[in-house]
Amino acid sequence: MARPLIIDCDPGVDDAIALLLAFTAPQQLDLLGITTVAGNVPLALTATNALKLCELADQTVPVYAGCPRPLLQPLQTAVEVHGATGLQGATLPDPQQRLQPQHGVDFLIEQLLSAPVPMTLAMLGPLTNLAVALIKAPQIVSKIAELVIMGGAVTHGNITPAAEFNVYVDPHAAQVVFTAGIPITLITLDTTHQVLTTPERLAAIRHINRPAAQAAADLLTYYGTPDIERYGMAGAPLHDPCVIAYLLQPDLFTTRPAQVAIETQGQHTLGRTVVDWWHSGPPNVSITDSVDAAGLYDLLTTQLSYL
Ligand code: BDR
Ligand code: CA
Repeated sequence: MARPLIIDCDPGVDDAIALLLAFTAPQQLDLLGITTVAGNVPLALTATNALKLCELADQTVPVYAGCPRPLLQPLQTAVEVHGATGLQGATLPDPQQRLQPQHGVDFLIEQLLSAPVPMTLAMLGPLTNLAVALIKAPQIVSKIAELVIMGGAVTHGNITPAAEFNVYVDPHAAQVVFTAGIPITLITLDTTHQVLTTPERLAAIRHINRPAAQAAADLLTYYGTPDIERYGMAGAPLHDPCVIAYLLQPDLFTTRPAQVAIETQGQHTLGRTVVDWWHSGPPNVSITDSVDAAGLYDLLTTQLSYL
């Protein structure tokens, strides 16, 4: 039976590839809704981008806009940081489906409270929507089976030397989520930086003669230049699709338990995910270590041919 799933995201190129991957697997993932949040680009764009991706892939999954800014901090989008424009590189169809009138946070709460069994949430952006939902309706904790989160870094950050973008944008929301007592699988930069879009992998996606795969190839062609330049990588790291790949094929990853705290005050370390390898307290996350990057790209490439 397909696993009921809500994806919370801020598309964004790698969010877009993650959504397309999720759309390919209805037998495994019963996608009940997409909630969007301000992050890579402002909220209005993340919502419109999600609708465009649904249109591209002929999906009718409802899209809900959530929070327009972080809990306490002003919004700092990737547009401001990297000069990105959201889904640059691809021409996507105008959406026929409209944005749902309900707020994304209320959709999350309603779905969770009415779920017959605890649900899985895929978290691909700043954690603002879920933090607000947890503050508004703390009883949802027992209705969440697992959060699979792309965020944080064990070693170096990507928005500051210390912090990863999703956690840095809203560290206070991350703190609410990480201390809520919900089972978390955390996919950090240390994992996603192993999953690089090399020219050969991009060519394999380009080779698929389907509109969604062609759009994915177009998006990935212009994606990740700042990371490639900063780290001297062989290709751009494919962050958010790791979350969906984990849900579809967890044996691509190895994990280990860890205790992770969120730095919310440090002048140089704001948004740092501090991993206590001393195991001073009980673990609150299962953190991914290694990933079979070739296997992940095989999965992505094969699945995209189904759309
Ligand atoms: C994360 O930040 C965003 O820019 C990406 O979409 C991804 O979710 C990587 O740090
Ligand atoms: Ca994202």
